[in-house]
Amino acid sequence: MKIKSICCIGAGYVGGPTMSVIAQKNPNIKVTVVDLNSQRICDWNDKDLTKLPIYEPGLDEVVAEARGRNLFFSSDVDAAIAEAQMIFISVNTPTKTYGAGKGMAADLKYVELCARQIAKVATSHKIVVEKSTLPVKTAEAIQNILDNTGKGVDFQILSNPEFLSEGTAMRDLAVPDRVLIGGDSTTDKGQEAIQALVDVYASWVPKENILTTNIWSSELSKLTANAFLAQRISSINSLSELCEATGANVQEVAKAIGMDSRIGPKFLQVSVGFGGSCFQKDIMNLVYIAKSLGLNEVADYWHQVILMNNYQRDRFAKNIIKTLYSTISGKTIVFLGWAFKKDTNDSRESAAIYIADLLIDEQAKVKVYDPKVTSAQMQSDINHLDSRSEDENKNYLKTENDPYAALQGAHAVAILTEWDEFKKYDWQRIYDNMQKPAFVFDGRNILNREVLETIGFVYKGIGS
Ligand code: UDX
Ligand code: UDX
Repeated sequence: MKIKSICCIGAGYVGGPTMSVIAQKNPNIKVTVVDLNSQRICDWNDKDLTKLPIYEPGLDEVVAEARGRNLFFSSDVDAAIAEAQMIFISVNTPTKTYGAGKGMAADLKYVELCARQIAKVATSHKIVVEKSTLPVKTAEAIQNILDNTGKGVDFQILSNPEFLSEGTAMRDLAVPDRVLIGGDSTTDKGQEAIQALVDVYASWVPKENILTTNIWSSELSKLTANAFLAQRISSINSLSELCEATGANVQEVAKAIGMDSRIGPKFLQVSVGFGGSCFQKDIMNLVYIAKSLGLNEVADYWHQVILMNNYQRDRFAKNIIKTLYSTISGKTIVFLGWAFKKDTNDSRESAAIYIADLLIDEQAKVKVYDPKVTSAQMQSDINHLDSRSEDENKNYLKTENDPYAALQGAHAVAILTEWDEFKKYDWQRIYDNMQKPAFVFDGRNILNREVLETIGFVYKGIGS
C-alpha cells in the first residue's frame, strides 16, 4: 500500500515539526495537521514565520518549503480524518491530576477522544499511528474503541514514538539515530501497515535505521529510553553534591567518566535538574506501570531518578537562600532563562518554575529574562503550582525584556537555562549595576568562573 494522504491530530511540539519533515521529504503525500486549538492552527498558518507557535531552530524553513504545497494546518478534524489513509495521534498525555494513579499515570482521555472521533468519522480502512508517548498496552485500548465504535472498517494500530529532542528537533528528524515502528507482524494486514509506514520514512532515513518491533516493545522502549536518559542526569547531579563536599569538580569527573567509551560523554551535563514535558511524566508512568504489576522494587528504583531531580532543584534554591545570609525577603533575584533548555520556547516542567516558587515562598522578588518564553507563559507556569493566588504571583514574579534592565539593582542572578547569549553579556557592566556583594548562581555551569571572580562576583556553580 502506498500512502497518499496523512492526517496528524495534535499540532504541538511533536506533531508540528514531525509532520513538517514528513511533508518536506515526501512531496507526493498530502499531510494535514489538525488541532482542537484553532488559535494554534491560525499561528501555524501565519504568513509571518516568526509567529509559528513553536520556536525550533530551522522549523520555519521547512514550513516555508512545504506549507501550501503538501503540508496543511487545519481545524477541520473530521474532514482530515476522513481523507487520510494514515492518522497519527500526537496529542498530549499529561500526568493524571485526579483519581486512580493521580500524579503518576498518564491521562489518556485525549487519546481516547481521538480514537472515538476516528471511529465515528472513518468510512474507509485506516492505519492509526500512536505518536504520543503512551503506557505499554495502550494500543489494545485504542484497538478496542475503534473496533467497537467504528463503522466496521479495518483499523491497524502502529506505535511510532518520537525521539526528537526540542531545540535540535529538525536535525533529530532529518537524521534520526533510529525510527521505531511497532506493529502486529503476525497478520498480513499488520505487516502491510508496518511496511506502509516504513516506506514513508524510507524517503529519507536509511533502511538500517528503521527498526520494527512488536507493538508492546515499541511503546515500552519510548518510556524506558527517556528513563535511561533522565537517569544519567540524576546520576551526575547526585555526584555534584558529593563533589562539593569533597573538593572534586563534577565537570572534571563527568569528562573523566564520559571518556570511557562504554559510558560515553552525552547527558552528563550537571544542572539544576532536568525539565521538559517528557522525562518526569514518562518515568512516573513507568513507575506506575511497575507498581500496577506488583513490581515494587522496579518502581522504587526508577522513582529515585525523580526524587534526585526534585532534590537537586531544592538544593539549588536553598543554596541561594543560605548564601544571601538566609534572608531573601524583599531582595531581587534575577533569573536568566525560564525555558527547560536552550533553543526552545517550551517551559514545561522547567526547573526555573520550581526554584522561583521556593524563592517566592521566602518573599524574594524574582525577575526573569528569557529570550523566547512569554510573560503570560511564566505566570501560567507558576500559577499552575497552586502555591498562592494569581495576584500574589504577579506581584512577586516579573518579566523583563532586557537583561541589563532586569539586573539593575539586583542582589543576585541565577542562570536557569543555558542560552548561548548569556555567555556573551557584558558582565562588568552587569556587576557595576548590581547590589554588592553581587552573586551569580550558575545552575548550568556555563559562565567563566575565573572571569566573573576577577570582576568581583561571588560565583557559585554546581558541583565544585
Ligand atoms: C505530545 C505528548 O505530550 C507526548 O507524550 C508525546 O510524546 C508527543 O506528543 P507535544 O507535542 O509536546 O507532546 O504536546 P503539545 O505541544 O501539548 O501538543 C499537543 C496538541 O494536541 C495541542 O496543540 C492540543 O491542542 C492538541 N490536542 C489535544 C488536540 O488536538 N486534541 C485533543 O483531544 C487534545
Ligand atoms: C527528551 C529526549 O531527549 C527525547 O529523545 C524524547 O523524545 C523527549 O524527551 P527533550 O525533553 O526535548 O527530549 O530534551 P532533552 O535534551 O532530553 O533535555 C531534557 C532536560 O534534561 C532539559 O531540562 C535539559 O536541560 C536536561 N539535561 C540534559 C541536563 O540537565 N543534562 C544533560 O546532560 C542533558
